[in-house]
Amino acid sequence: MNPTTTIAVRAARQAGSIIMRSFGRADTLTVSEKQSNDFVSEVDRNAEQAIIGVIRKAYPGHAILAEESGSHGKDEFLWIIDPLDGTTNYLHGFPQFSISIALSHRGKLENAVVYDPLRDEMYTAARGAGALLNDRRLRVSEQKGFKGALLGTGIPYRNQRYMDAYLAMLKDLAKESAGIRRPGSAALDFAYVAAGRLDGFWELGLSAWDFAAGALLVQEAGGVVSDIRGGSRHLETGNVIAAGVRLHREMVDVIRPHVPGDIAA
Ligand code: IPD
Ligand code: CA
Ligand code: CA
Repeated sequence: MNPTTTIAVRAARQAGSIIMRSFGRADTLTVSEKQSNDFVSEVDRNAEQAIIGVIRKAYPGHAILAEESGSHGKDEFLWIIDPLDGTTNYLHGFPQFSISIALSHRGKLENAVVYDPLRDEMYTAARGAGALLNDRRLRVSEQKGFKGALLGTGIPYRNQRYMDAYLAMLKDLAKESAGIRRPGSAALDFAYVAAGRLDGFWELGLSAWDFAAGALLVQEAGGVVSDIRGGSRHLETGNVIAAGVRLHREMVDVIRPHVPGDIAA
């Protein structure tokens, strides 16, 4: 395995053991609301500190952008970290959450790790070297169109500004596809697209740490990731579509007419 990916895997495993120690015991945690419907506990913070500790030890000069503690340092290498993606699920004992760690160099994604500690599933990718689930190579599904396609999404629950536009997309995609799932961890949703468990995924209003790693997984598994107009500004805007090449094109065609004029791509 690429040495940088190995460091990210080590960091993800440490975070995973912190997360699993308190899983199902949310009543013992101190939970606070960062903003409306945006919760955080000491598990998120401790997992993040563990990840940062491993990365700093290996790469003291690299910059870090982490969900709970923000930006650290300035460098052309940037680690983008979500220590616990799916906090709402985690706090309810709903078994779907993950750890997401990506490394970018001058804005280009180079390494990715998404870890599901419940199933001990480690998804990794390095640019140009493909994507793996544990030691199995990943490939997006070969779904040609909507018939039979299983899609993933995230229903807006913090910022409701684009709810109507989102519901219009949901309605059209529900009519076209075989089914839609809202599992609750965007990083894992992308990993599932990379693994062919979902044929496609879209969501509005994500943060870079939710899907930087997931985006590289999908691309390295042969899929396409774009913003909701089909362009390449998804990491800036957080409005994103991911799927295999052909289904991606069809998803853009269904979603684009509903994209509000004032949304960032
Ligand atoms: C959230 C999850 C969720 C997505 C939200 C994210 P968090 O991350 O990825 O699936 O719908 O937009 O913010 O807050 O649990 O790290
Ligand atoms: Ca997240
Ligand atoms: Ca998080």
